[in-house]
Amino acid sequence: MKFTLSAVFASILAVATTSPMPADVGILEIWNPHILNPSAGVVWARGSTQNVTWDTSDAPELISEISAIRLRKGGSTQPEDLAFDFDLRSGSQVITVPGLPTDIPTGDDYRLVLFGDSGNWSDEFTIN
Ligand SMILES: *[C@@H]1O[C@H](CO)[C@@H](O)[C@H](O)[C@H]1NC(C)=O
Ligand SMILES: *[C@@H]1O[C@H](CO)[C@@H](O)[C@H](O)[C@H]1NC(C)=O
Repeated sequence: MKFTLSAVFASILAVATTSPMPADVGILEIWNPHILNPSAGVVWARGSTQNVTWDTSDAPELISEISAIRLRKGGSTQPEDLAFDFDLRSGSQVITVPGLPTDIPTGDDYRLVLFGDSGNWSDEFTIN
């Protein structure tokens, strides 16, 4: 019995590792919404409330259930979500910019990252 089971597993493993991946049925299209606000050169104050907006006109029928907005400064995306689990199709989400100097430094190399199936970045803007 033991031998039979491991033989079955071995053959499953062999099939899984040697056959090509079956075509995915109903796979999500990768949609990277174009962020409209913040646009290049916009200045946001720390602690302010902002309405992030993006273009939904090219949204495919099936999109990710995952949604999150994060800040990116220079080359690094911050680990905290400014918003998550909102409706990507709505095209807008109100966020609060982190308020304390210890939370984020000022700078003119900020971008927002909007996550869905994949992440897309806004233009560079300033937080002062
Ligand atoms: C991402 O956003 C940029 C501008 O913010 C836009 O030009 C581009 O079409 C978007 N999509 C992809 C796939 O990069
Ligand atoms: C954010 O902007 C969108 C698009 O302009 C608008 O429809 C929405 O009402 C705004 N939300 C708030 C809270 O201002």
